[in-house]
Amino acid sequence: MNRDTLPRHVAIIMDGNGRWAKQHKIQVALGHRKGVEALRAIIRESSDLGIEALSLYAFSTENWRRSPQEVEALMGLLLEYFTSEIDELDEKNVRIRILGDKDGMPDRQRRALINAEERTEKNTGLKLNIAINYGGRAELARAARMLAEKAVRGDIRPEDIDEEALAGELYTRGLPDVDLLIRTSGEMRLSNFLLFQCAYAEFLFPTVLWPDFGVEDYHAALDAFAGRNRRFGGRSE
Ligand code: FPP
Repeated sequence: MNRDTLPRHVAIIMDGNGRWAKQHKIQVALGHRKGVEALRAIIRESSDLGIEALSLYAFSTENWRRSPQEVEALMGLLLEYFTSEIDELDEKNVRIRILGDKDGMPDRQRRALINAEERTEKNTGLKLNIAINYGGRAELARAARMLAEKAVRGDIRPEDIDEEALAGELYTRGLPDVDLLIRTSGEMRLSNFLLFQCAYAEFLFPTVLWPDFGVEDYHAALDAFAGRNRRFGGRSE
């Protein structure tokens, strides 16, 4: 694998836990649990490779519509993950940031998410962003609202509101744009994930279901990225 052409920012839509569970004739909650194992390996590899930022879509604002049992299972997994893994992530110098509306989360989960962010705030390694109760359009609306409030207070003039000012109000402020977006399970949709940040991202849609996505699949995706010719709207020679 060529380490000179690594993306700075990788985003992943971890799709296919439900189908994986179905294939194995087990409960969907166990599919998600298996998905957490896959996620652990990809986080470790991203950190070892020296990738700057990794953004994972764990729970969208639309996911509340799933059955109460599945929502409860996902909330349980989130709580478990953010309590049991935090020491190891901190040791690995990983900096955790939650993308999404933490205030809309149940109490215990919200506290665990805030704790994870605070504990790893000063870390300088992999920037690990986990999207929870996240929606891309809601993020943009929130950014517009914050800029409007600044304008009303007189802190910014409307004519100074540009792309950079907007980017500065997103959950991802300070991070580079997404270079590579991976969605597993063969679905080819963005599903309201990082709409602004993916403007020039390369997209890959491996057919493997998320619980089966391993380090080799990740390397294959990074290799495919390295082979893409990115023009950012210009022409390549
Ligand atoms: C998509 O699979 C996956 C999700 C909606 C949740 C992803 C969550 C995890 C991997 C675990 C929780 C995360 C953390 C950070 C602990 P799907 O259920 O939509 O699959 P399907 O399309 O096959 O039904």
